[in-house]
Amino acid sequence: MKFFIDSGNVEDIREAGELGLLDGVTTNPSLIAKTGRKFEDVAQEICDLVPGPVSLEVVGLNWKEMVAEGKALRKYGDNVVVKIPITADGLKAIKALSSEGIPVNTTLIFQPLQALLAAKAGAAYVSPFIGRHDDIGQDGMLLVSEIVQIFDAYNFETEVLAASIRHPIHVLEAAKMGAHVATMPLKVIKQLVEHPLTDIGLKKFLEDWHSIKA
Ligand code: E4P
Repeated sequence: MKFFIDSGNVEDIREAGELGLLDGVTTNPSLIAKTGRKFEDVAQEICDLVPGPVSLEVVGLNWKEMVAEGKALRKYGDNVVVKIPITADGLKAIKALSSEGIPVNTTLIFQPLQALLAAKAGAAYVSPFIGRHDDIGQDGMLLVSEIVQIFDAYNFETEVLAASIRHPIHVLEAAKMGAHVATMPLKVIKQLVEHPLTDIGLKKFLEDWHSIKA
């Protein structure tokens, strides 16, 4: 399973990269706005910092605008993946960009048929939003498993990118289902390594070690 960080914060991205497990980055307009910085600066810094795929989202709603924006976003690096929302115009843009070899991450996926359409249009990734589903009392993990099942049945090359991840259980369940990628904030990446019994065990080992008489 690949790990992406879901962030526009360059310092968080750098810190995640230092762990040696970072495969890529996803951003969205809200994450960029949260930085209080200019999109151009943030996008360039992230693309220079991370060798893996960096998803940058278009904001146009018309497919021709999306295609033009997507092509322009590639100036930040060859690692740019164009993030397109799943709408009828989005599908046309996915098809157009993908047929030119430009990778697309389809965002805001909330039901499995949206993922099927994006895969048929040639998307490199689909991003089912788990946490936002859970927020309204629906099962975000079920969405991921249904998409994985459909993609396996038809041997799609499109990767399932589990998104809107709020805690380690989302990562665990997505990994068990065979999602190809999980994108998560730095807080969740750090939580993956933690367990209170590890801390207690380590403390006890060190106490016992220091009690040994020379
Ligand atoms: C996906 O690429 C999105 O940027 C992201 O995962 C959305 O997460 P949120 O629901 O926590 O905003």
